[in-house]
Formats: sequence, structure tokens, C-alpha cells
Amino acid sequence: MNKQSVRDVSLTGKRVLMRVDFNVPLRDCVVSNDARIRAALPTIQYVLERGPKALVLLSHLGRPKGRVDPRWSLQPVAGRLQELLGRKLHFVADCGGPLTQSALATLSEGGILLLENTRFDPGETSNAPTVARSLASMADIFVNDAFGAAHRAHASTVGIAQLLPSVAGLLMERELDYLATALEAPRRPFVAILGGAKVSDKIRVIEALLQKVDRLLIGGGMANTFFRAQGLDLGASLVEEDAVSVAENLLKEHARRIVLPTDAVLGNSCSQDADVRCIMLKEAVPPGWAIYDIGPVTLQRFAAELRDARTIVWNGPMGVFEQAPFANGSNEVAALLAAATASGATTIIGGGDSAAAVEAAGLAGSVTHISTGGGASLEMLEGRVLPGVEALDNRQSDD
Ligand code: 3PG
Repeated sequence: MNKQSVRDVSLTGKRVLMRVDFNVPLRDCVVSNDARIRAALPTIQYVLERGPKALVLLSHLGRPKGRVDPRWSLQPVAGRLQELLGRKLHFVADCGGPLTQSALATLSEGGILLLENTRFDPGETSNAPTVARSLASMADIFVNDAFGAAHRAHASTVGIAQLLPSVAGLLMERELDYLATALEAPRRPFVAILGGAKVSDKIRVIEALLQKVDRLLIGGGMANTFFRAQGLDLGASLVEEDAVSVAENLLKEHARRIVLPTDAVLGNSCSQDADVRCIMLKEAVPPGWAIYDIGPVTLQRFAAELRDARTIVWNGPMGVFEQAPFANGSNEVAALLAAATASGATTIIGGGDSAAAVEAAGLAGSVTHISTGGGASLEMLEGRVLPGVEALDNRQSDD
């Protein structure tokens, strides 16, 4: 990584402002998945061990559209973070306003503040200079550990970094190292697996990956658009008609590297109690039925394609994994990645739904790296430079 890291700077006696991605799911005001909070702990602990004067944590939660909305308060996150850290922290009910100023003034040496949701202020997402300035004025140094928000050019990701010495946190560093190494110098064969509902969301990723991978395995709803390009009869399956010609061109240009499913699990509805059947895709999908998962023959083919892979990147589920009848494809792909990891491959899961699928399969500890960023990892796979990373201070070159 050519950016400075928290390990390159002195933090002792400094006021440290740290952007984290605590955009976690809540159920009835309780954090229902704390993976992103746990992922930030190593950097928080690292900073605290270096004796800072103060540590001020910033995060967004949800998309409250620039208005104070108690449903998106970070207060429940503060409670969970305090439990995980095992030490007291102060939650501040504004972000850089008078409550923050007075909390800072009375904070004891080495104390921790978590400020309220950055997105309660419209100036956050518009990267308003006034917001960045008022946040930056509280600190001596900025640590950005919010990989999941690094594709957003907001005041708390880019604006502050332009005003203070700015370095990457340990999570940010780890995310960039895994994803950049996989993309720039992968051990080969390098295989990518892409899924999810829409081709149109992933055209740039497909095009960028096809320049780098040895094989690209495609599953999920997006495969349907490729099937339509092949002239298959898909019944009631979701097809993005607008993207069929793109799929057709990709198949023409990269036929040897794209691997599509050959069988599918169908349902007569997309629900828990759907009737389910499996067909080879050269048969027509019957009217009223739709494709909701990849089938067992495809899984065997994917297993064969992954057997010798040394680097595997997976983004997007293979089917509607939230519904039990259609979870098998994603569960089995998670198991194939766990097996590949055990035999020495580097396996990287893009965040979002594929991370949830690996967690649901109980295999989160059995792959090399699960990204905490859905959109951010997708943008990296597209080959884009993330603005939140770009804004960090460069490492001095050795020559
Ligand atoms: C995420 O959940 O992917 C990140 O926290 C970014 O959230 P956003 O898409 O609302 O910017």
C-alpha cells in the first residue's frame, strides 16, 4: 500500500479523529450483526495503546438524508462497542456541534467519544467544507479505518483528510492489501465468481475482471441475462432485457473464460414454502416457474473450475439465499471456498450479500478474507480508485 498507515505515525498525546464504518444492521434498536464493529477493534485498540490525548470516533449509519432521525442513531452501537472494548466510552448526541465541544473539553486523558451519525448533517454527503473544517478542528490526526465507506467522497472520508495528516487504519490497510494484491499480482490460476441479481450493476466489474482472471464463474439472477443471450427459454425468471446485448457481446468476446450454470433450481414462487424442482437449462423453464438458484451439476462444474485455483474472489450470491429452498448454491460455493482455503488458495469474499452468505453457511472463519465493504470492494474490483483512500497521505517513496 502506498498510503501511510497508523503504524507509521506517532499518536502519543495526540487528539485522534477516526472514521469507522459502523453502518450495522439494527433490530428493535439492538445491533443484530456486530461484524463491522468487531472489525474496527484492532485499530481502536492499537490507537488506545499508544496513549492518545483523546480518541474521537465518527461513523454514518443508514441513509437518513441529512436529517436527525432517531431510527438511525448510533447510540445502540455505542453500547455494543463499549461491551466489546470492555471500557467506558462517551456517546455524544451531535457530530461536531456544541455537545461534542463540551464532551471534548471535559474528557479525561485518553478518553473515547463516539459522535452521533455523520449523515444527520446534509453537509456530510455533499462534503461541505464547513463540516469537514469543524470536525478536523477537534483533532491533530485523522485515521480512516472505514473501508466500507471509502468509495464515498463525503466530509468525514475525504473532506477531513484534506485538512489533517491522514493515515489508514489497520482494517483499511488489510482490506486494500488483500484486494489490491489479488487484482494486481494474483497467484494463478485466478478465478472470480460473480452473482447477485443484476448484470447492469456489475458490467464494469465483469469487464475489469475479464482482463485479469483466468476464469469467471457466473451465477445468481444475473446469469439469466446471459441465458437469454444464448436464446434459452426462461419462464418467469428475472431477465434484464436492456442488458441482453451486453451479455451477448461478453459471451462472444470471452467465451472461453466465462463459465455459466448448466442447470438450475426453479421455484413456483420466491418463498420459503415454494414448490421446487431442478432442470437442465437446455430444457425450457415452464411458464409460472422461475430460476432462483444454481443446480447440482453446475456446482460440480464450479468445483472442478476451482480445484486448482490459487486466488479466488467471490462477489454476489448464487441464488436467493435468504430463502431456505434456494440457499444451497451459495452455501455450497462457500464450502468450496473453505476447501480451497484449506488447500492453500487465497480466498476473498466481497462484502454485502456474499459475506452474509458465507456467515450464514457458518464458514466466516474458513476463508482468507471477508471484506467489510460491499460497494467499496465492488468499486475496487472495477479497478476504480476509492476517493477515501486517494485522500490519505502518501507514503514517502524509498528512492
Ligand atoms: C455499506 O454499507 O456498504 C457502507 O457502509 C456504505 O454505505 P452507503 O452505501 O449508504 O454509503
